[in-house]
Amino acid sequence: MGKRIVFTGGSGKAGRHVVPYLLDKGHKVLNVDRAVLDVPGVHTLLTDVTDSGQVYNALSCHFGYDGYEEPGGPKPVDAVVHFAAVPRILMHPDNKTFAENTVSTYNVIEAAAKLGIRKVIIASSETTYGVCFAEGDKDYHEFPLTEDYDTDPMDSYGLSKVVNEKTARAFALRYGIDVYALRIGNVISPEDYAAFPGYLADPPVRKRNAWSYIDARDLGQIVDLCVAKDGLGFQVFNAVNDTITATIPTREFLAKYAPNTPITGDLDGFEAPLSNRKIREVLGFKEEHDWRKYVKV
Ligand SMILES: NC(=O)c1ccc[n+]([C@@H]2O[C@H](COP(=O)([O-])OP(=O)(O)OC[C@H]3O[C@@H](n4cnc5c(N)ncnc54)[C@H](O)[C@@H]3O)[C@@H](O)[C@H]2O)c1
Repeated sequence: MGKRIVFTGGSGKAGRHVVPYLLDKGHKVLNVDRAVLDVPGVHTLLTDVTDSGQVYNALSCHFGYDGYEEPGGPKPVDAVVHFAAVPRILMHPDNKTFAENTVSTYNVIEAAAKLGIRKVIIASSETTYGVCFAEGDKDYHEFPLTEDYDTDPMDSYGLSKVVNEKTARAFALRYGIDVYALRIGNVISPEDYAAFPGYLADPPVRKRNAWSYIDARDLGQIVDLCVAKDGLGFQVFNAVNDTITATIPTREFLAKYAPNTPITGDLDGFEAPLSNRKIREVLGFKEEHDWRKYVKV
C-alpha cells in the first residue's frame, strides 16, 4: 500500500529520479527543498533543513493544498527520506559543508523520531570509504568494500557522512525506530552514460568511485525497498549497481589497477568492488539499469 513520504532534497540530481520512482509505486510524496521540483503530483515546501524549527514544521504539515479539503488536519507521515545536503567538497568552505550536513541530518532524524515517525532513510556516501576525496592516491584497505569496513575519510564531506551514520545509530537506539543509511555510489543519470566510454578508456580515473556506480532510477528502487522493509533498526546499506565499470572481470581488473589492495571476500565475475550483496540479500534489490544497456563496449 502507498505510504506518505517526506523527501528532503527531492529537487536534486538523485531526488528528481527517485521521487518519480516512489510516485510510480503508489506513494504520496512531499518534497522539502530550497528549490522547486517540477514533477506533477508533488508539492515542494521551500525549507531550509539546517533550521530545526522549519524541519519540525515540514514533517508535520499537509502534503499539498488538497490536504485542506480533508478533516482532521495533516495525516501522519510513514517515512522520511533525507537527501538534502551539500553533495561534495569544494562547493562551499569545508566547515560549512561539515556543519550543514551534520546539523541538517541531526535535525531531520530528531524531528522524525520525536514526532513519532518510525522510518528514516538517509543519504550516506561512497566517500566514507576514504578514497573518493582523499589527498593524493590512497589505496582502499581491502576489496570488496562492505558495510563493516573501517571507514576513514580525511575530507569534510566524507567525515560529515560518517558522523551522520553515528547520528542515525543513536536515534535508532534511543527511539527503537528504523534508520537506514544508504552509502550511495556515484549517481548516474541517464545522460551521464555518455561519459562511460571515457571512463572505460582510462580506468584510474574511476578509482575514487571504486569502479562502481548507482543508476539514479535503481536508487529509486533501493529507497522504495527500504520504505517497505521494517524492523531492522539502524542499518548501513551500500547503494550501488551490480557490476564493475570495466570490460574485464573484477579480480583480473583489480590485480592490474589496485595491486596493493588485498581481496578478502567473494568477488565473482564482474561483481562491483563496492559490494551491493547486502541490498540484494536483505532487501531483494534487482538492478534494472546495467550500464551495458546504454554504453557500447
Ligand atoms: N551525486 C552523487 O554521486 C552522490 C553520491 C553519494 C551520495 N550522495 C548524496 O546523495 C544526496 C543527493 O545528492 P545529489 O547528487 O542529488 O545532490 P544535489 O546537490 O543535486 O541535490 C541536493 C538537493 O538538496 C537541496 N538542499 C541542499 N541543502 C539544503 C538545505 N539546507 N535545505 C533544503 N534543501 C537543501 C538542494 O536544493 C538540492 O535540490 C546527498 O545527500 C549527497 O550527499 C550523492
